[in-house]
Parts: sequence; structure tokens; C-alpha cells
Amino acid sequence: MGSANDDVSRVLIPENVIRDRISSLAAEIEAVYDGDIIVVAVLTGSVVFLSDLIRCLPHRMEIGYITVSSYKGDLPTEPRLGSVSLPELRGRDVLIVDDILDTGNTLRLVQGMLRGHEPRTLRTATLLRKPSKAPPDVPAEFVGFDIEDMFVVGYGLDFEGRHRNLPHISELRA
Ligand code: IMP
Ligand code: MG
Repeated sequence: MGSANDDVSRVLIPENVIRDRISSLAAEIEAVYDGDIIVVAVLTGSVVFLSDLIRCLPHRMEIGYITVSSYKGDLPTEPRLGSVSLPELRGRDVLIVDDILDTGNTLRLVQGMLRGHEPRTLRTATLLRKPSKAPPDVPAEFVGFDIEDMFVVGYGLDFEGRHRNLPHISELRA
């Protein structure tokens, strides 16, 4: 039986490094919010990050989600909004949680949509950012790791729907 691990060529960020960074990222987030928050997860890529991050946050919180599809294999396409499940956001402190900021097209769509709900504050936490491409008009206040411009999988990130279950961030075998 083959495993998801057989398909990756190099571990870029090992499990223990992700764990340590998530607890320091949670401390950064904790320093910013006094009261209750609403976390909005951008599915599906953020599921693993979401579940580890929220367990490091002490706040009272509610969780909503939106699904956005933006990739066919490893080729970016125009992002499209899928299903949406959100609590009332008006006047609330809202934190978007996403897996990776690449071109920023996905988060631009998500941030614009959520701004329309008139939250009191809107901030974004993303596990990864590709700095070469991330545009200045798409703010991400909390960033786990800046990485080179390469296609990565694992810890929620997929290639054609697979490899999300890898506990580390890795480069795909060519
Ligand atoms: P953006 O719209 O270009 O910023 O891309 C954001 C979305 O594309 C992410 O939420 C991912 O789903 C996907 N994505 C971008 N880069 C990668 C990658 O290196 N590996 C896996 N998915 C990626
Ligand atoms: Mg995604």
C-alpha cells in the first residue's frame, strides 16, 4: 500500500516547528483581542491549521466557514465562493483563518465579502505566505511562515484533493 508520504520529495517545515510556531502565533493573536471573537475558516485548506490554532486560543469564540475553490491541480484559477455558514458578524471582532496567501485572489474575495457584513474589526491569520506574490491590498496581520514561491502540500494543503493529512509541509515529488 502506498502512502501520502511517498509522494513528497522534501519536508520543508516539520511537525514540531509548525507546533511551536502556532503557539507563538496564538500569543500574537491573544495580545490583540480582549473580548470574544468570531473565527471564519476558509475551507478546505485551513482545517488542520484551524483545529490546532483555536485550541491555543483562550477566547470565547464562534466558528463560521466559507468554501472557496481556486486551484485546478497546481494551476491557479479565478476563485469562486462555494457554501457559506456564518454567525451574525455585524459589530463583531472577526478573524479569518486560511492556509496560504499566494496571489491573494482568494483572500481578496473573502475579505471583501466579509467586510460587507460590517464587522467591528476584520483581521486575517494565514499559516503560509508566498511573499514574492502576496499583493499589498490584501492584508494578513498574522502569518505563520513566509515560504519561497513553490507548490507545497500537507497540513491541510492539497494537490488535486490529496495530501492534506500529512502532518508536515512538504514539496511534492516532481
Ligand atoms: P491565492 O488565491 O493565489 O492567494 O491562493 C490561495 C489558495 O490557493 C489557497 O487557499 C490554497 O488553497 C491554494 N494554494 C496556493 N498555493 C498553494 C500551494 O503551494 N499548495 C497548495 N495549495 C495552494
Ligand atoms: Mg485554500
